[in-house]
Amino acid sequence: MTVSRSDSVVWLNGKIMSEKAATVPILTHSLQYGSGMFEGIRAYATENGPAVFRLDDHIKRFFNTAKMKSMDLGYTRKQMSDAVIEVVKRNKLGSCYIRPFAFYDDAHIGMATEGKKVSVFIAAVPFGAYFGSKKSNGIKCKVSSWRRINSNILPVQAKSSGNYVNSIMADTEAIEEGFDSAVLLSESGYVSEGPAENIFLVKDGVLVTPSVESDILLGITRDSIIHFASYNGISTEERLVRRDELYSADEMFFAGTAAEITPITHIDGKKVGNGRIGSMTSKLSDIYSRIVSGKEREFSGWLTYVK
Ligand SMILES: Cc1ncc(COP(=O)(O)O)c(C=O)c1O
Repeated sequence: MTVSRSDSVVWLNGKIMSEKAATVPILTHSLQYGSGMFEGIRAYATENGPAVFRLDDHIKRFFNTAKMKSMDLGYTRKQMSDAVIEVVKRNKLGSCYIRPFAFYDDAHIGMATEGKKVSVFIAAVPFGAYFGSKKSNGIKCKVSSWRRINSNILPVQAKSSGNYVNSIMADTEAIEEGFDSAVLLSESGYVSEGPAENIFLVKDGVLVTPSVESDILLGITRDSIIHFASYNGISTEERLVRRDELYSADEMFFAGTAAEITPITHIDGKKVGNGRIGSMTSKLSDIYSRIVSGKEREFSGWLTYVK
């Protein structure tokens, strides 16, 4: 049985400790200036106990983010992967969301990070559908008035806390206007991605997703979908996607670790296709659920079991 939230533990700088005791001073650099960085990972319950989905790829991205930000984590990839497993195990979690986070653990005023202490924690929480019950009916999105940041402003491939202010602006605007989420366009006006999700369209049976030129985060779920769709005979066009394609698509969905595969049934108040969840979206979603729960042997290499 999962330990109660009040007894949950985190890994902080190499030690397992109570989540309640893991606190930071109010002037912590990363709290003031958004200089932290993180990963978002999911583990799923399987017949053989919990399994973390694409752990190595998430940890690799965590280290790439640190490199882009000149942050020395002070741990090896193996140490971080082992720590993720340890946190899931110690909290007796099944399906859950895992948050590795690195930040400047130094209380001072000023931008300077040189020589400042870096702390790393890993927390894990029970987690269901990111969009809650809306996931099974489809969500309503709007094209944001905010453009997606580009790589000359902030490194888009880094999962850097500061990048998410852009996502939060778009998400907040959408929710304030009665939508569930937003689709951001790139600086050049092409479809980029959701606040924390990649986007896929289906048109005349073809799966389409914006390419890297549109300042997307090259998501691990996106990559998984491209791979398993291809294995199932569905090829994906990775290319520039025009805004008007959103309005003529037959199906549309978000893809991400948190969102998994979430159907988008309305965009800017218009129905996507017939406004119901499409057959390609349902099919890919079923395959995804089977893979993450260990039921597709071909993709078992993506799972790291918590033993
Ligand atoms: C901006 C952004 N795009 C896309 C994604 C999807 O990436 P992944 O599938 O690796 O979770 C995320 C989530 O991490 C994100 O934050």
